[in-house]
Amino acid sequence: MGGDVSSSAALNGKRLVLAVTGSIAAYKAVGVLRALQTQGATVSVIMTRGATKFMTPLTFEVLSGRRVVTDLFEAHEAMPHLTMAEDADAVLVAPATANVLAKAALGLADDVLTTMLLNVRCPVIVAPAMDGEMWTHPTVVQHVDVLRARGVIVLDPEVGPLASGRVAQGRLPAEEKVLEAVHAVVCPQTDWRGQRVLVSAGPTQEPLDPVRFLSNRSSGKMGYAIAEAVRARGGDVVLVTGPSALRPPSGVTAVHVNTASEMADALSQHFASCSVLIMAAAVADFRPRVTASGKLKKQGKSEMELVLEATPDILTMLSARRTSQVVVGFAAETEQVLSHAIDKLRGKGLDLIVANDVSHVGGGFGSDDNAAVILSATGEQRVFGLMPKRQLADEILNAVRDLCFMAPRGASLVE
Ligand code: CTP
Repeated sequence: MGGDVSSSAALNGKRLVLAVTGSIAAYKAVGVLRALQTQGATVSVIMTRGATKFMTPLTFEVLSGRRVVTDLFEAHEAMPHLTMAEDADAVLVAPATANVLAKAALGLADDVLTTMLLNVRCPVIVAPAMDGEMWTHPTVVQHVDVLRARGVIVLDPEVGPLASGRVAQGRLPAEEKVLEAVHAVVCPQTDWRGQRVLVSAGPTQEPLDPVRFLSNRSSGKMGYAIAEAVRARGGDVVLVTGPSALRPPSGVTAVHVNTASEMADALSQHFASCSVLIMAAAVADFRPRVTASGKLKKQGKSEMELVLEATPDILTMLSARRTSQVVVGFAAETEQVLSHAIDKLRGKGLDLIVANDVSHVGGGFGSDDNAAVILSATGEQRVFGLMPKRQLADEILNAVRDLCFMAPRGASLVE
Protein backbone atom coordinates (compact mmCIF):
# COMPACT_ATOMS: atom_id res chain seq x y z
CA MET A 1 0.00 0.00 0.00
CA GLY A 2 0.96 3.61 -0.37
CA GLY A 3 1.06 6.11 2.49
CA ASP A 4 -1.40 6.35 5.38
CA VAL A 5 -4.84 6.21 3.74
CA SER A 6 -6.53 7.67 6.81
CA SER A 7 -4.27 10.73 7.03
CA SER A 8 -6.13 13.93 6.22
CA ALA A 9 -3.24 15.47 4.31
CA ALA A 10 -2.09 12.32 2.56
CA LEU A 11 -2.96 13.63 -0.90
CA ASN A 12 -1.86 17.24 -0.38
CA GLY A 13 -0.69 18.82 -3.62
CA LYS A 14 -1.86 15.88 -5.75
CA ARG A 15 -3.90 16.57 -8.89
CA LEU A 16 -6.39 13.96 -9.94
CA VAL A 17 -8.90 13.55 -12.73
CA LEU A 18 -12.07 11.73 -11.68
CA ALA A 19 -13.96 10.31 -14.65
CA VAL A 20 -17.56 9.31 -13.97
CA THR A 21 -19.29 7.01 -16.46
CA GLY A 22 -22.87 5.86 -16.99
CA SER A 23 -23.49 3.34 -14.23
CA ILE A 24 -26.11 3.55 -11.50
CA ALA A 25 -23.10 3.67 -9.13
CA ALA A 26 -22.35 7.17 -10.50
CA TYR A 27 -23.88 8.63 -7.34
CA LYS A 28 -21.10 6.97 -5.32
CA ALA A 29 -18.53 9.05 -7.21
CA VAL A 30 -19.65 11.99 -5.06
CA GLY A 31 -18.35 10.18 -1.96
CA VAL A 32 -15.10 9.33 -3.73
CA LEU A 33 -14.67 12.97 -4.80
CA ARG A 34 -15.28 14.23 -1.23
CA ALA A 35 -12.87 11.68 0.26
CA LEU A 36 -10.12 12.62 -2.21
CA GLN A 37 -10.64 16.32 -1.47
CA THR A 38 -10.68 15.76 2.29
CA GLN A 39 -7.21 14.31 1.93
CA GLY A 40 -5.96 17.39 0.12
CA ALA A 41 -6.23 16.40 -3.57
CA THR A 42 -7.34 18.82 -6.26
CA VAL A 43 -9.87 16.94 -8.37
CA SER A 44 -11.17 17.77 -11.85
CA VAL A 45 -14.20 15.84 -13.02
CA ILE A 46 -15.05 14.45 -16.44
CA MET A 47 -18.47 12.92 -17.09
CA THR A 48 -19.50 10.78 -20.01
CA ARG A 49 -22.89 11.35 -21.63
CA GLY A 50 -24.18 8.22 -19.85
CA ALA A 51 -23.04 9.56 -16.48
CA THR A 52 -25.06 12.76 -17.00
CA LYS A 53 -28.21 10.62 -17.22
CA PHE A 54 -27.63 9.52 -13.62
CA MET A 55 -26.06 12.64 -12.06
CA THR A 56 -26.00 16.30 -13.09
CA PRO A 57 -22.67 17.94 -13.93
CA LEU A 58 -23.75 20.74 -11.59
CA THR A 59 -23.40 18.44 -8.57
CA PHE A 60 -19.76 17.73 -9.38
CA GLU A 61 -19.15 21.31 -10.46
CA VAL A 62 -20.29 22.69 -7.10
CA LEU A 63 -18.41 20.05 -5.10
CA SER A 64 -15.17 20.19 -7.07
CA GLY A 65 -15.25 23.96 -7.51
CA ARG A 66 -14.19 23.41 -11.12
CA ARG A 67 -15.93 23.21 -14.45
CA VAL A 68 -16.98 19.67 -15.28
CA VAL A 69 -15.98 18.53 -18.77
CA THR A 70 -18.60 16.49 -20.60
CA ASP A 71 -18.00 17.27 -24.24
CA LEU A 72 -15.00 16.91 -26.48
CA PHE A 73 -16.25 19.75 -28.63
CA GLU A 74 -17.03 22.36 -25.98
CA ALA A 75 -16.46 25.72 -27.60
CA HIS A 76 -14.98 27.53 -24.61
CA GLU A 77 -12.04 25.21 -24.02
CA ALA A 78 -9.68 24.00 -26.66
CA MET A 79 -8.86 20.30 -26.40
CA PRO A 80 -9.97 19.58 -22.80
CA HIS A 81 -8.85 15.95 -23.29
CA LEU A 82 -5.27 17.17 -23.56
CA THR A 83 -5.17 19.95 -21.01
CA MET A 84 -6.98 18.20 -18.14
CA ALA A 85 -4.72 15.22 -17.79
CA GLU A 86 -1.55 17.10 -18.69
CA ASP A 87 -0.39 17.61 -15.14
CA ALA A 88 -2.55 15.04 -13.37
CA ASP A 89 -0.84 12.61 -10.99
CA ALA A 90 -3.47 9.98 -11.81
CA VAL A 91 -6.76 9.46 -13.62
CA LEU A 92 -9.44 7.56 -11.71
CA VAL A 93 -12.39 6.16 -13.65
CA ALA A 94 -15.11 5.45 -11.06
CA PRO A 95 -17.51 3.94 -11.78
CA ALA A 96 -16.35 2.38 -15.06
CA THR A 97 -18.92 0.65 -17.26
CA ALA A 98 -18.29 -2.40 -19.45
CA ASN A 99 -18.64 -0.04 -22.43
CA VAL A 100 -15.82 2.22 -21.23
CA LEU A 101 -13.58 -0.79 -20.46
CA ALA A 102 -14.17 -2.04 -24.00
CA LYS A 103 -13.48 1.33 -25.64
CA ALA A 104 -10.33 1.84 -23.56
CA ALA A 105 -9.05 -1.66 -24.36
CA LEU A 106 -9.64 -1.16 -28.08
CA GLY A 107 -8.34 2.41 -28.20
CA LEU A 108 -11.59 3.98 -29.40
CA ALA A 109 -11.82 7.72 -28.90
CA ASP A 110 -15.39 8.84 -29.41
CA ASP A 111 -15.80 11.08 -26.36
CA VAL A 112 -13.76 13.26 -24.05
CA LEU A 113 -12.88 10.45 -21.62
CA THR A 114 -11.74 7.83 -24.13
CA THR A 115 -9.86 10.46 -26.12
CA MET A 116 -8.11 11.55 -22.93
CA LEU A 117 -7.24 7.95 -22.05
CA LEU A 118 -5.26 7.74 -25.28
CA ASN A 119 -3.34 10.86 -24.31
CA VAL A 120 -2.52 10.37 -20.64
CA ARG A 121 0.92 9.33 -19.51
CA CYS A 122 0.10 9.25 -15.78
CA PRO A 123 -1.24 6.10 -14.04
CA VAL A 124 -4.87 5.17 -14.70
CA ILE A 125 -7.01 3.45 -12.07
CA VAL A 126 -10.32 1.93 -13.09
CA ALA A 127 -13.07 0.96 -10.64
CA PRO A 128 -15.66 -1.05 -12.58
CA ALA A 129 -19.33 -1.37 -11.62
CA MET A 130 -21.79 -3.44 -13.60
CA ASP A 131 -24.08 -6.43 -13.37
CA GLY A 132 -22.41 -9.70 -12.37
CA GLU A 133 -23.22 -11.39 -15.68
CA MET A 134 -21.46 -8.56 -17.48
CA TRP A 135 -18.33 -8.64 -15.29
CA THR A 136 -17.84 -12.36 -15.99
CA HIS A 137 -18.72 -12.12 -19.69
CA PRO A 138 -15.73 -13.37 -21.73
CA THR A 139 -15.53 -10.08 -23.66
CA VAL A 140 -15.29 -8.03 -20.48
CA VAL A 141 -12.77 -10.50 -19.02
CA GLN A 142 -10.69 -10.12 -22.16
CA HIS A 143 -10.82 -6.30 -22.09
CA VAL A 144 -9.84 -6.23 -18.41
CA ASP A 145 -6.89 -8.53 -19.17
CA VAL A 146 -5.77 -6.25 -22.02
CA LEU A 147 -5.96 -3.17 -19.81
CA ARG A 148 -4.12 -4.85 -16.93
CA ALA A 149 -1.40 -6.12 -19.24
CA ARG A 150 -0.99 -2.51 -20.39
CA GLY A 151 -0.44 -1.39 -16.78
CA VAL A 152 -3.89 0.06 -16.09
CA ILE A 153 -4.91 -0.70 -12.50
CA VAL A 154 -8.30 -2.36 -12.77
CA LEU A 155 -9.84 -2.95 -9.34
CA ASP A 156 -12.08 -5.95 -8.83
CA PRO A 157 -15.72 -5.06 -8.21
CA GLU A 158 -17.18 -6.30 -4.95
CA VAL A 159 -19.69 -9.05 -4.39
CA GLY A 160 -23.05 -7.86 -3.06
CA PRO A 161 -26.58 -6.84 -3.99
CA LEU A 162 -26.71 -5.13 -7.40
CA ALA A 163 -29.23 -2.73 -8.94
CA SER A 164 -30.68 -5.71 -10.84
CA GLY A 165 -31.65 -7.30 -7.54
CA ARG A 166 -29.11 -10.09 -8.01
CA VAL A 167 -26.26 -10.75 -5.59
CA ALA A 168 -23.06 -11.04 -7.60
CA GLN A 169 -19.65 -9.52 -8.21
CA GLY A 170 -20.30 -6.13 -9.76
CA ARG A 171 -20.55 -3.47 -7.05
CA LEU A 172 -18.24 -0.48 -7.23
CA PRO A 173 -15.30 -1.29 -4.90
CA ALA A 174 -15.69 0.27 -1.45
CA GLU A 175 -14.55 3.89 -1.14
CA GLU A 176 -11.58 2.90 1.06
CA LYS A 177 -10.39 0.37 -1.57
CA VAL A 178 -10.56 3.04 -4.25
CA LEU A 179 -8.64 5.44 -2.02
CA GLU A 180 -6.07 2.77 -1.21
CA ALA A 181 -5.46 2.27 -4.92
CA VAL A 182 -5.07 6.03 -5.48
CA HIS A 183 -2.59 6.20 -2.61
CA ALA A 184 -0.60 3.25 -3.89
CA VAL A 185 -0.25 5.05 -7.21
CA VAL A 186 0.37 8.65 -6.22
CA CYS A 187 2.32 8.09 -2.99
CA PRO A 188 3.88 4.70 -3.70
CA GLN A 189 5.78 2.82 -1.06
CA THR A 190 8.99 1.67 -2.70
CA ASP A 191 10.69 -0.36 0.01
CA TRP A 192 10.69 -3.51 -2.19
CA ARG A 193 12.14 -1.82 -5.25
CA GLY A 194 15.07 -3.81 -6.62
CA GLN A 195 13.78 -7.12 -5.21
CA ARG A 196 12.79 -9.89 -7.59
CA VAL A 197 10.36 -12.10 -5.75
CA LEU A 198 9.24 -15.62 -6.57
CA VAL A 199 5.78 -16.30 -5.11
CA SER A 200 3.91 -19.60 -5.25
CA ALA A 201 0.15 -19.76 -4.80
CA GLY A 202 -2.88 -22.00 -4.96
CA PRO A 203 -3.31 -25.76 -4.79
CA THR A 204 -1.78 -28.43 -6.97
CA GLN A 205 -3.79 -31.11 -8.74
CA GLU A 206 -2.40 -34.64 -8.91
CA PRO A 207 -4.13 -36.68 -11.62
CA LEU A 208 -5.51 -40.17 -11.03
CA ASP A 209 -6.69 -40.53 -14.59
CA PRO A 210 -7.71 -38.08 -17.36
CA VAL A 211 -10.85 -36.97 -15.46
CA ARG A 212 -9.95 -37.14 -11.74
CA PHE A 213 -7.35 -35.59 -9.49
CA LEU A 214 -6.37 -35.19 -5.82
CA SER A 215 -6.22 -31.60 -4.64
CA ASN A 216 -6.97 -29.35 -1.64
CA ARG A 217 -9.08 -26.33 -0.67
CA SER A 218 -6.50 -23.61 -1.35
CA SER A 219 -7.96 -20.67 -3.33
CA GLY A 220 -4.66 -18.92 -4.07
CA LYS A 221 -5.88 -15.71 -2.38
CA MET A 222 -2.93 -15.42 0.04
CA GLY A 223 -0.26 -15.91 -2.63
CA TYR A 224 -2.00 -13.55 -5.07
CA ALA A 225 -2.29 -10.92 -2.31
CA ILE A 226 1.46 -11.24 -1.65
CA ALA A 227 2.23 -10.89 -5.36
CA GLU A 228 0.07 -7.76 -5.53
CA ALA A 229 1.68 -6.29 -2.40
CA VAL A 230 5.24 -6.83 -3.70
CA ARG A 231 4.26 -5.16 -6.98
CA ALA A 232 2.63 -2.24 -5.19
CA ARG A 233 5.82 -1.74 -3.16
CA GLY A 234 8.08 -1.59 -6.19
CA GLY A 235 9.31 -5.19 -6.48
CA ASP A 236 9.19 -7.50 -9.49
CA VAL A 237 7.19 -10.70 -9.16
CA VAL A 238 7.15 -14.11 -10.78
CA LEU A 239 3.95 -15.81 -9.59
CA VAL A 240 3.91 -19.59 -10.00
CA THR A 241 0.32 -20.57 -9.49
CA GLY A 242 -1.64 -23.77 -9.28
CA PRO A 243 -5.22 -23.77 -10.62
CA SER A 244 -7.07 -20.76 -9.19
CA ALA A 245 -10.17 -18.79 -10.16
CA LEU A 246 -8.28 -15.54 -9.49
CA ARG A 247 -6.78 -13.27 -12.11
CA PRO A 248 -3.08 -12.54 -11.63
CA PRO A 249 -2.51 -8.94 -10.47
CA SER A 250 -1.32 -6.29 -12.97
CA GLY A 251 2.37 -6.19 -13.69
CA VAL A 252 3.11 -9.69 -12.41
CA THR A 253 4.65 -12.46 -14.53
CA ALA A 254 2.34 -15.45 -14.02
CA VAL A 255 3.37 -19.05 -14.65
CA HIS A 256 0.45 -21.51 -14.53
CA VAL A 257 1.06 -25.09 -13.38
CA ASN A 258 -1.08 -28.04 -12.29
CA THR A 259 0.97 -30.63 -10.44
CA ALA A 260 3.52 -30.47 -7.60
CA SER A 261 6.16 -31.65 -10.01
CA GLU A 262 5.33 -28.86 -12.52
CA MET A 263 5.40 -26.36 -9.68
CA ALA A 264 8.83 -27.67 -8.57
CA ASP A 265 10.15 -27.29 -12.13
CA ALA A 266 8.77 -23.76 -12.60
CA LEU A 267 10.09 -22.57 -9.24
CA SER A 268 13.50 -24.19 -9.82
CA GLN A 269 13.74 -22.41 -13.15
CA HIS A 270 13.19 -18.95 -11.63
CA PHE A 271 14.79 -19.40 -8.19
CA ALA A 272 18.37 -18.48 -9.11
CA SER A 273 17.32 -15.11 -10.57
CA CYS A 274 15.21 -14.12 -7.55
CA SER A 275 16.18 -12.57 -4.23
CA VAL A 276 13.20 -13.87 -2.22
CA LEU A 277 11.00 -16.97 -2.39
CA ILE A 278 7.60 -16.83 -0.68
CA MET A 279 6.01 -20.24 -0.80
CA ALA A 280 2.30 -19.74 -0.17
CA ALA A 281 1.15 -22.65 -2.36
CA ALA A 282 -0.59 -25.63 -0.79
CA VAL A 283 1.48 -28.29 -2.51
CA ALA A 284 0.14 -31.84 -2.46
CA ASP A 285 2.36 -34.03 -0.27
CA PHE A 286 1.36 -37.20 -2.12
CA ARG A 287 0.33 -38.09 -5.64
CA PRO A 288 -1.02 -41.29 -7.16
CA ARG A 289 1.92 -43.56 -7.93
CA VAL A 290 0.33 -44.38 -11.27
CA THR A 291 -1.77 -42.07 -13.42
CA ALA A 292 -4.09 -44.19 -15.54
CA SER A 293 -4.06 -43.26 -19.21
CA GLY A 294 -7.78 -44.01 -19.56
CA LYS A 295 -10.69 -43.35 -17.20
CA LEU A 296 -10.64 -45.77 -14.24
CA LYS A 297 -13.75 -47.98 -14.38
CA LYS A 298 -15.89 -49.21 -11.50
CA GLN A 299 -16.19 -52.69 -12.94
CA GLY A 300 -18.49 -53.77 -10.10
CA LYS A 301 -15.84 -53.15 -7.39
CA SER A 302 -17.11 -52.18 -3.92
CA GLU A 303 -13.80 -50.60 -2.87
CA MET A 304 -10.61 -49.46 -4.43
CA GLU A 305 -7.09 -49.00 -3.09
CA LEU A 306 -5.02 -46.09 -4.18
CA VAL A 307 -1.24 -46.20 -3.86
CA LEU A 308 0.27 -42.75 -3.29
CA GLU A 309 3.89 -41.65 -3.39
CA ALA A 310 5.47 -38.55 -1.84
CA THR A 311 5.96 -35.44 -3.98
CA PRO A 312 9.25 -33.54 -3.73
CA ASP A 313 9.33 -31.05 -0.83
CA ILE A 314 9.94 -27.96 -2.93
CA LEU A 315 10.90 -25.64 -0.08
CA THR A 316 13.47 -28.04 1.34
CA MET A 317 14.93 -28.59 -2.11
CA LEU A 318 15.20 -24.86 -2.94
CA SER A 319 16.40 -23.67 0.46
CA ALA A 320 19.25 -26.22 0.20
CA ARG A 321 20.13 -24.71 -3.16
CA ARG A 322 20.05 -21.06 -2.21
CA THR A 323 22.90 -18.63 -2.59
CA SER A 324 21.68 -15.41 -0.98
CA GLN A 325 17.89 -15.78 -1.31
CA VAL A 326 15.55 -15.15 1.58
CA VAL A 327 13.22 -18.16 1.85
CA VAL A 328 9.77 -17.84 3.43
CA GLY A 329 7.37 -20.74 3.99
CA PHE A 330 3.85 -21.19 5.28
CA ALA A 331 2.59 -23.68 7.82
CA ALA A 332 -1.04 -24.67 7.50
CA GLU A 333 -1.95 -26.36 10.77
CA THR A 334 -5.04 -27.48 12.63
CA GLU A 335 -3.39 -28.13 16.03
CA GLN A 336 -0.17 -27.27 17.93
CA VAL A 337 0.28 -24.52 15.37
CA LEU A 338 3.43 -22.91 16.76
CA SER A 339 5.41 -26.06 17.56
CA HIS A 340 4.65 -27.59 14.14
CA ALA A 341 5.57 -24.30 12.48
CA ILE A 342 8.91 -24.13 14.33
CA ASP A 343 9.65 -27.71 13.25
CA LYS A 344 8.98 -26.73 9.62
CA LEU A 345 11.06 -23.54 9.94
CA ARG A 346 14.02 -25.62 11.14
CA GLY A 347 13.44 -28.70 9.04
CA LYS A 348 13.07 -26.82 5.75
CA GLY A 349 15.87 -24.32 6.47
CA LEU A 350 13.68 -21.20 6.24
CA ASP A 351 14.28 -17.58 7.24
CA LEU A 352 10.62 -16.97 8.12
CA ILE A 353 7.48 -19.02 8.42
CA VAL A 354 3.90 -17.77 8.40
CA ALA A 355 1.91 -20.08 10.64
CA ASN A 356 -1.83 -20.19 10.37
CA ASP A 357 -4.54 -22.22 11.92
CA VAL A 358 -6.60 -23.37 8.95
CA SER A 359 -9.38 -24.62 11.22
CA HIS A 360 -9.85 -21.02 12.52
CA VAL A 361 -13.38 -19.69 11.98
CA GLY A 362 -13.38 -16.86 9.41
CA GLY A 363 -9.82 -17.39 8.19
CA GLY A 364 -7.75 -19.90 6.24
CA PHE A 365 -8.58 -21.68 2.97
CA GLY A 366 -10.91 -19.83 0.62
CA SER A 367 -11.51 -16.94 3.02
CA ASP A 368 -10.65 -13.29 2.31
CA ASP A 369 -9.21 -13.02 5.82
CA ASN A 370 -6.46 -14.72 7.71
CA ALA A 371 -4.89 -14.70 11.18
CA ALA A 372 -1.24 -15.65 11.47
CA VAL A 373 1.91 -15.74 13.50
CA ILE A 374 5.14 -14.91 11.69
CA LEU A 375 8.18 -16.65 13.18
CA SER A 376 11.74 -15.92 12.20
CA ALA A 377 14.76 -18.20 12.27
CA THR A 378 16.33 -15.73 14.70
CA GLY A 379 13.51 -16.22 17.21
CA GLU A 380 11.29 -13.18 16.59
CA GLN A 381 7.51 -13.54 16.61
CA ARG A 382 4.83 -11.24 15.19
CA VAL A 383 1.22 -12.11 15.96
CA PHE A 384 -1.67 -10.91 13.76
CA GLY A 385 -5.39 -11.30 14.46
CA LEU A 386 -7.93 -11.88 11.70
CA MET A 387 -7.36 -9.33 8.91
CA PRO A 388 -7.79 -9.14 5.11
CA LYS A 389 -5.21 -11.29 3.30
CA ARG A 390 -4.04 -8.21 1.39
CA GLN A 391 -3.22 -6.52 4.71
CA LEU A 392 -1.51 -9.63 6.04
CA ALA A 393 0.52 -9.70 2.82
CA ASP A 394 1.88 -6.25 3.70
CA GLU A 395 2.71 -7.45 7.22
CA ILE A 396 4.60 -10.44 5.78
CA LEU A 397 6.57 -8.08 3.54
CA ASN A 398 7.27 -5.80 6.52
CA ALA A 399 8.58 -8.81 8.46
CA VAL A 400 10.82 -9.93 5.59
CA ARG A 401 12.12 -6.37 5.20
CA ASP A 402 12.77 -5.85 8.94
CA LEU A 403 13.96 -9.32 9.92
CA CYS A 404 15.73 -10.54 6.79
CA PHE A 405 16.84 -7.61 4.59
CA MET A 406 17.96 -5.52 7.56
CA ALA A 407 19.29 -8.24 9.85
CA PRO A 408 22.17 -10.57 9.08
CA ARG A 409 20.93 -14.11 8.63
CA GLY A 410 22.68 -17.19 9.95
CA ALA A 411 22.68 -16.99 13.74
CA SER A 412 19.44 -18.81 14.03
CA LEU A 413 17.19 -21.54 15.22
CA VAL A 414 18.28 -23.36 12.11
CA GLU A 415 21.32 -25.48 12.91
N1 CTP B 1 5.66 -27.38 0.69
C1 CTP B 1 6.53 -27.60 -0.37
N2 CTP B 1 6.52 -28.80 -1.02
C2 CTP B 1 5.68 -29.78 -0.62
C3 CTP B 1 4.79 -29.55 0.46
C4 CTP B 1 4.81 -28.34 1.09
O1 CTP B 1 7.31 -26.71 -0.71
N3 CTP B 1 5.66 -30.93 -1.27
C5 CTP B 1 5.72 -26.06 1.36
C6 CTP B 1 4.39 -25.31 1.41
O2 CTP B 1 4.25 -24.48 0.27
C7 CTP B 1 4.52 -24.48 2.67
C8 CTP B 1 5.39 -25.35 3.56
O3 CTP B 1 6.05 -26.29 2.70
O4 CTP B 1 5.19 -23.27 2.46
C9 CTP B 1 4.63 -26.12 4.60
O5 CTP B 1 3.54 -26.79 4.01
P1 CTP B 1 2.50 -27.57 4.92
O6 CTP B 1 1.47 -28.20 4.02
O7 CTP B 1 2.05 -26.73 6.06
O8 CTP B 1 3.40 -28.69 5.57
P2 CTP B 1 4.07 -29.99 5.03
O9 CTP B 1 5.54 -29.76 4.92
O10 CTP B 1 3.38 -30.43 3.79
O11 CTP B 1 3.80 -30.97 6.23
P3 CTP B 1 2.39 -31.52 6.82
O12 CTP B 1 1.47 -31.63 5.64
O13 CTP B 1 2.77 -32.82 7.40
O14 CTP B 1 1.93 -30.53 7.85
